Amino acid sequence: MGDKKNRHDPNYLRAKRENFAGRAIYKLEEIDKRFRLIKPGARVLDLGCWPGSWLQYAVKRAGTDATLVGVDLKAVELALPSNVKTFVGDVNKLKLDKMVERFGRFDVVLSDMAPNTTGNKDFDIPVSEDLFLRALDIATGCSRIGGHFCAKVFQGARFHELIREVERRYQQAKPYRSAHTRKQSREQYIIGRGLKANVARDANPIADS
Ligand SMILES: C[S@@+](CC[C@H](N)C(=O)[O-])C[C@H]1O[C@@H](n2cnc3c(N)ncnc32)[C@H](O)[C@@H]1O
Repeated sequence: MGDKKNRHDPNYLRAKRENFAGRAIYKLEEIDKRFRLIKPGARVLDLGCWPGSWLQYAVKRAGTDATLVGVDLKAVELALPSNVKTFVGDVNKLKLDKMVERFGRFDVVLSDMAPNTTGNKDFDIPVSEDLFLRALDIATGCSRIGGHFCAKVFQGARFHELIREVERRYQQAKPYRSAHTRKQSREQYIIGRGLKANVARDANPIADS
């Protein structure tokens, strides 16, 4: 978003005032209050974590005994507590077996990933849907049984199919549109609570490496 537009955005100004890396923090705060995803001591994986405001929120909620891992194409430059690790990388190339080996299985997998939007919805929406599905596969492959999932997607023709796919893998699946999302945006979140045991067992991270 351009600087001129930012100056008039109350959430951007609030985030700046409160020393958060971005306005997106208020969306995660809202979602977490409603769906109770992040607990003290949790292991949290944040896909598309730059500039880092979701990690700032997650570490505040999960505390210093928690393990938080962020991945993004861009390097996070924020100073974060030592129990937060960030990596530069493309989620499409993430080695799930290595992640699990290093950090254990996650309690929560978050994704706020979005493509570099072109303004052409026929292009942007399918890219966003693919990122969503990749996040869902990562969550399925790296989470503990009963773990939670929350990911962004731009609403398009496959939206209901994506909700059904989350429903197939989690005990509960719910779409959620944040009150902090701009009116003209197609942004939605889909939340999955409670990864099913058979799905977690069938996911084979080794096959992904
Ligand atoms: C809206 S921003 C995330 C904001 C973040 N939740 C925060 O609160 O600071 C979306 C991010 O997704 C990242 N992204 C998009 N495609 C990606 C991919 N294939 N692998 C990793 N990150 C990706 C972008 O680089 C961008 O930084």
